[in-house]
Formats: sequence, C-alpha cells, structure tokens
Amino acid sequence: MLITDQTSRRRIPTTADMVSRMCGIAASVLKNGDVGPVLFDCLKKLEYRGYDSVGEASIIDGKIIVKKDKGKISEVERELHISDLRGNVGIGHTRWATHGAPSRENAHPHTDCTDTVAVVHNGIVENFMQLKQELEAKGHKFKSRTDTEVVAHLVEENLRNGRSFAEAVRLAANKLTGAYALAFICTSEPDKVVCVRKESPLVIGTAANGNFCASDIPAFLSRTNQAILLEDNEMAILTADQVRIVQIETGEAVNRKPFTVEWSIETALKTGFPHFMLKEIHEQPMTVRNALRTHPIYMDLMASAINKAKKVFLVACGTSYHACLGGAYAFSNLAKAEVTPVVASEFIDGHGALVDGDTVVLVVSQSGETADTLSAVRGAKDRGATILGISNTMGSTLTRLSDVYIGQNSGPEMGVAATKTFTAQLSVLIKLAVVLARKREFLRKSELETIEAGFQQLPNWISTVLSTQQDSVRRIVERYSDRSSLCFLGRGMSVATALEGRLKLLELSYLPAIAYPAGESKHGFISVVEEGYPVIFVAPRDESYSKIIGNVMEMKARGAKIISIVDEKDGEVARLSDDVIVVPPGVPSMLTPIVFVLPLQLFAYYMSVGKGYDPDFPRNLAKSVTVH
Ligand code: M6R
Repeated sequence: MLITDQTSRRRIPTTADMVSRMCGIAASVLKNGDVGPVLFDCLKKLEYRGYDSVGEASIIDGKIIVKKDKGKISEVERELHISDLRGNVGIGHTRWATHGAPSRENAHPHTDCTDTVAVVHNGIVENFMQLKQELEAKGHKFKSRTDTEVVAHLVEENLRNGRSFAEAVRLAANKLTGAYALAFICTSEPDKVVCVRKESPLVIGTAANGNFCASDIPAFLSRTNQAILLEDNEMAILTADQVRIVQIETGEAVNRKPFTVEWSIETALKTGFPHFMLKEIHEQPMTVRNALRTHPIYMDLMASAINKAKKVFLVACGTSYHACLGGAYAFSNLAKAEVTPVVASEFIDGHGALVDGDTVVLVVSQSGETADTLSAVRGAKDRGATILGISNTMGSTLTRLSDVYIGQNSGPEMGVAATKTFTAQLSVLIKLAVVLARKREFLRKSELETIEAGFQQLPNWISTVLSTQQDSVRRIVERYSDRSSLCFLGRGMSVATALEGRLKLLELSYLPAIAYPAGESKHGFISVVEEGYPVIFVAPRDESYSKIIGNVMEMKARGAKIISIVDEKDGEVARLSDDVIVVPPGVPSMLTPIVFVLPLQLFAYYMSVGKGYDPDFPRNLAKSVTVH
C-alpha cells in the first residue's frame, strides 16, 4: 500500500508498511513433537491483540519453511495448514497495523537473502531506511516493504562474517533504534530460538517438553505456568532444555529464575488487572511513547498540507473530539494556526458550505469506523477537501479514505471507554502542532526545547501519577460515591481535560456530570452549586492558574466541595481544596491534558466499580458506533 504526497505525487511507504507494533509473537523449541500445532495454539491465544495476517516458520531437513498470508488464523489455516508445520523449532506471528490490503509479502516471518534466518517482530525499527540502504548497497535483495526484513539481512551479514547465531543476532540488535521484540530461527543452529527485547513485550515460558517465548503469557499458559520476564535490552537463547539470558549490549549473562503464573487465561489477558480499562490506563506510558514515535515523514506531510490550506477543521466524536479540542488549542498557541474543532455529526450541516479544495479536514477516530465521522469525511471529500486521518486502526475506512494518515499505535482498546487512545491522539496532535510551528518558525528555541524535553518525560510523568495517585483517587471516590452529580472545570488547555473527565464519569457510572470552561461556569452552572456539591478543578500551574484560583473561590463561597488536580509544587489551589490529587511538577502547559487526565480516568473507573457496574461494558454503548 502506498500513500501519495498530494503535491509531488512521490511514492512513499505508509506507516503500515513499516510498522507492526501491536503484533503477536510466539516461538517454541520442543524436545518432542512438531511446533506447527503448538504455535497455532499460541497464535490463537494472541488473537485478542488484533491482527490481519498470520505466519509460521520452522526448520525441516535443514531448510526454513515459511507459511504465511493475510487473513484470520482460521482462514490461513484452511489455505496453508499452518498447524501441520513439522520440525521442533519454530516461530509464529500475528501482524496488526497493516493496511486494508495486507499482503503475503509483508506478513511475518521474514527471511534473509539465503533463507538461513527467519524473524518475527513486534515493534518498529526506527532507523530501518538507513539500514536498508546500507544493506542494499552491499547487494542484499528485499522481498517486503517492512522494517522487520532489515533485521534478517543484518543477521545474515553477521553470520557471513563467521559469528554464531546468537552473536549475529546480538550484534544486529545493537544496530537497531526503536522498539522491538524479535524472535529468530536459523538453519546453521537448528536447535535454537533466539529472542530479543527492547520496549516491546516478550515473555519466556519454560516447560518439561521445551521452551517458549511470546508477546504475552496467555500464549503458552495452557502448556506451562512457569514464566520469565525478559527485561529491556536483554536477549534469550532458547534450546529445548535450557534458557540463557544475556545483555544485548555486552553479551554479559543474566541470572533470572522462572516465577509461577497464578492467573487464569482470562486474568492473564488483562495482565492481572481486574478490568481491561484499568490495564489500558496503565499501558499509557508505553502507548504515549509509541504515539510520539510516528515517523517524521507523515508528520511533515500533514504539517505541509495544513500549512498550505486556507481552512483547517479538526473533526471527530466523543473522546476523539476532546483530543481535537486540545489539538486545536495547541495549533493556535504553538503554530498560530487557526484550526476549528467540530463534532463530526455537526460538521457538514454547520460547515459544509465552507469546505472546498483549499480545505484540510484532519479527522481523528480510534476505530476509524465511526459512522458520524465517516459521513463528515465523505461530505468533505465530495467538496474537494484534503483528508488527513489519525486512527488506531490501520486498514479502517478512515485510513482508506484519507489522503495521508497516521497510526497512533495504541494497540487494541478493549474497554468501551477510550483511555489510552485519548492520550495517544493528543500526543500525535500536539507533536503535529510542534512540527507545524517549526515549519512556520513561530516558536522560540527555548519553547521548542521545553516541549521536546516534555515529550521525552511524558512516559515517566504518567508512570509516576499512576503509581502514586491510584489509591488516593480511590479513597476520594469513596467519599463522593453517594452524590447524584459532579462538575469538572478547567481553563485553557484544561478545558479538554475537564470535558474528557466528565465523559468518562458519565459513560461509566451513569451520573449526569457537568463540565465547563471554568470561566463560563458563572454564566449559569453556578446556580446548581449548593452546600457539599463536588466540583473537580483541573488546575495546572500554567497561564490560566491565577484565574482559576478566582473560580475555585467562587465555588467554595457557595459551599462546593473542591477536589483539585494540581502539580506537586502547587500552593494556592491545593490550600483551597478539600481533596487534592497531585501530578509531577514541570509538565509544559501544552502537554498537561496527557498527565492531568489520568486521575480523572481512575476516578471514573473507581466510581463505576464502586457502584457495581462493569467499566469495560457500560450499558447502551458500543466500542465503535457505526450508526448515525
Ligand atoms: O472510534 P472513535 O474514536 O471514532 O469513537 C468516537 C466515540 O464514539 C468514542 O470516543 C466514545 O465517545 C467513547 N466511548 C468514549 O470513551
């Protein structure tokens, strides 16, 4: 699949060509029996991760045999009989994030020029273009458009230079930048699987009849409950009766014993969390990092299109719309770009008359299938607009209708309530605003550096909030669980945060919650406030801080209970509050929603659980709303 730059019509690979971030990996070395049925079973257990292509490879009579194709596991099984694969060493893969027309060539496993090595991958090799050019200059021939294939060729180079299988993999891994979990087999040492981890998950399973590695414990849990977690920058060499772990950088041995997994398969799918929603909230350090890894080519294409357009709209529904509100604020404040956020169902009726060939419509949708959003896209396309898409679902209708699209790469979101996809969408939008600001030379060097440093810090800030505030949020929820309504207030960038906090609470605990720009609250909402009414203030120490103090006092004067989300170094708002939730200090104003929304997600989660509801499946709601 190719996307085309609207101006130059040059062909460039899509994100989907390069990325297979939320894929599933499984590999096995057995003492007895064939790997085909074992890997087939492991891949079935990884189906929940979402995928559109499947593949397995093993070594039979000294040769690598690969069976792979696009389609569901059952379809590929019917066509290629992957479960019949013989041999006692093998690797398997489910590929996600391919485009609507995923291909056999791009499905994993990938092999080198000589079919000596086969590899499966979950992640992104950020420097793959440069590595590919170097390898092509040395005569390597590529069969796919993926980043993964470069790894097979790198290992081939090292084997050619006389390295052992494990050493060839280790040296290759040292050349990669990005995130990856990789598993390899090699005909020169056909009794081994070698696997590598940096930032993408990889777990090892040890059993009497052999050893496994996989993206997730459920893959092998029916065969063994003995697991070893591979840490970042470690690799493992698996034979049927041994697991050896070493540091990727130095080759130094690591000593780690297996632990017993006590979870059922169901719990293991939620990695021990009681609900998918809580699991997904806790995935945000990783999903924000993934979102910020979007390849600069696509950011640049989008920023160029926005820069040239006479009118720019940001269009979405629900949580994605709230991300657009934050995005529009960032476009205006960082890049001085006028970008109008509009709820998708109102877009054509309210703004259709303004849409023409000089218009860019930037559309945000987790699913890429929301009916209201797609109607807006089709209406805008009919009027000649350029469509830019941000979606979590490669191959979705939105990505197919877009002139340029970016995958936010959050992995499948199982909870109906959007959590990790909100912070990922915001990350992409704010980064895009920064790219546009650079293009327009509107930002001072120091401002750019602060935001860039903030992007780097985000995963740490998120981890800190989740690890330090979860219990206090739960306790605060207990204190207010009998209230029939609550209000969320914020100013500036925090309006988006307040609205999103309200939506989460509303959809999960069925409370008629309210949210306003704090300054607007005195124009009507304030009449609702009486003794004990809970008002949640999102109050970062940004340019809106002094004004929000006034709003807090207005509410307090009328007897409201003040719950505030403030930074650790806060003085005034915290002092005025009945309950305080703190986040780390120093989050740049534009990035605050990504950090300040976390306590609100937890607030909604605990309120729902406290009321005895299932936060993963709120009543009347569907994950993807495909009706108008
Ligand atoms: O898949 P989309 O991002 O297009 O979905 C939009 C809304 O339906 C969605 O965000 C909805 O509001 C969620 N349930 C919010 O948690």
